[in-house]
Amino acid sequence: MTAHGKRALVSGGAGLIGSHVADLLRREGWRVRVLDNLEPQTHRKGKPPWVGNDIEFIEGDVVDRGTITAALANIDVVFHQAAYGGYMPEIAKYVRVNSFGTAQMLEIIREQNLPIKKIVVASSQAVYSEGAATCPEHGLVFPDVRPIEQLQLGDWSVHCPICQAVTTSAPTPERAPIGGETVYGLTKVDQEKLVLLWGKQIGIPTVALRYSCTYGPRQSIFNPYTGVIAIFCTRLLNDLPPVLYEDGEQTRDFSFVEDIARANLLAAESDKLDGLPVNVGSGEGASIRQVAEQISDALGIHITPEVNGEFRPGEMRHLTSDTERIRAAGYAPQVDLATGIRRYLDWIRQQADVRDYFSEAANILRSKGIVHRVKSRGERGG
Ligand SMILES: NC(=O)c1ccc[n+]([C@@H]2O[C@H](COP(=O)([O-])OP(=O)(O)OC[C@H]3O[C@@H](n4cnc5c(N)ncnc54)[C@H](O)[C@@H]3O)[C@@H](O)[C@H]2O)c1
Ligand SMILES: [Zn+2]
Repeated sequence: MTAHGKRALVSGGAGLIGSHVADLLRREGWRVRVLDNLEPQTHRKGKPPWVGNDIEFIEGDVVDRGTITAALANIDVVFHQAAYGGYMPEIAKYVRVNSFGTAQMLEIIREQNLPIKKIVVASSQAVYSEGAATCPEHGLVFPDVRPIEQLQLGDWSVHCPICQAVTTSAPTPERAPIGGETVYGLTKVDQEKLVLLWGKQIGIPTVALRYSCTYGPRQSIFNPYTGVIAIFCTRLLNDLPPVLYEDGEQTRDFSFVEDIARANLLAAESDKLDGLPVNVGSGEGASIRQVAEQISDALGIHITPEVNGEFRPGEMRHLTSDTERIRAAGYAPQVDLATGIRRYLDWIRQQADVRDYFSEAANILRSKGIVHRVKSRGERGG
């Protein structure tokens, strides 16, 4: 089948990644339908202008049986991007939208025997507990998430699970143990496992793309719970310091959104990734402090970041994706971090009403126990 005339459903297609997937597919000659409920936290002003007229838009919830059934009609490939994400305090909503929504979609495809030819599901590096690490003695190890008692003492390091030595970060391969240490991470595990194992049962090729931290134009400037680059930009533009958790030296692998869209197209068109979880990232780690500085420099707004001993239990210290699997299938990211940040800033400068929503959100996260603070000497006792 040639791409021309192929029909795609992009769930979450009004969002950051989904909208870029939709645009790329259109340029490649696909017919595109988007299902998106315009989650208010992300889209405070309703349907965003980038959902083009050449895209069939269904406003509705992936959890609604009738809506998702209608959205799946006459579709060749599903790009399942819709999800509830970030560090929000809701628990049931993650499970309902991410886990249940995916399960029900698969059930409908099977019940109705729909002629879907492939499903690409958005998974995340959040499925890993802690990034892979190198122990001076034991080589490559897969440490567990750091215990909260350790973090309360302000010890941010990652210890070897065998000898407790301090480790250094190593690229994380897909074979690393997965589990999810946040409710969000847990539901991303559900989504990818459901899709991959169900696909094998039914005989429909599936791919689970474990995205690294993704950023770029269209990333919500309203949502204070997700997207560190967007949050730092809105803070600085409001003359407020970026807030760094831990000591700011934790590292992440950042992907420009157009690269992630290309990975989706590759997963749909190649059969090399079928049936697999696949890391998508740059393969390079950048510290959060470094990112804050890069944004400051690019904006020309220099405010010393705030580091106040706060941390988020369950958050990993280091994560760099081992991208060998997807590179072997032909993937090569094209936009580096400095260029990507510039492109995001060009976009954000054109947005009206860049307000700070983070301060209020930070208070909520503290009160709900999602953000903690290191214990003072007195609190630690004797
Ligand atoms: N951005 C990242 O850093 C990142 C990293 C790893 C994985 N992911 C995954 O990628 C996918 C897309 O994320 P994004 O960054 O584009 O987020 P986003 O919030 O910009 O987009 C998600 C879209 O899904 C829609 N949506 C949410 N709940 C819905 C529901 N119940 N029904 C229909 N639509 C719904 C939202 O309105 C939004 O437009 C998600 O599955 C996310 O978990 C993102
Ligand atoms: Zn060791």
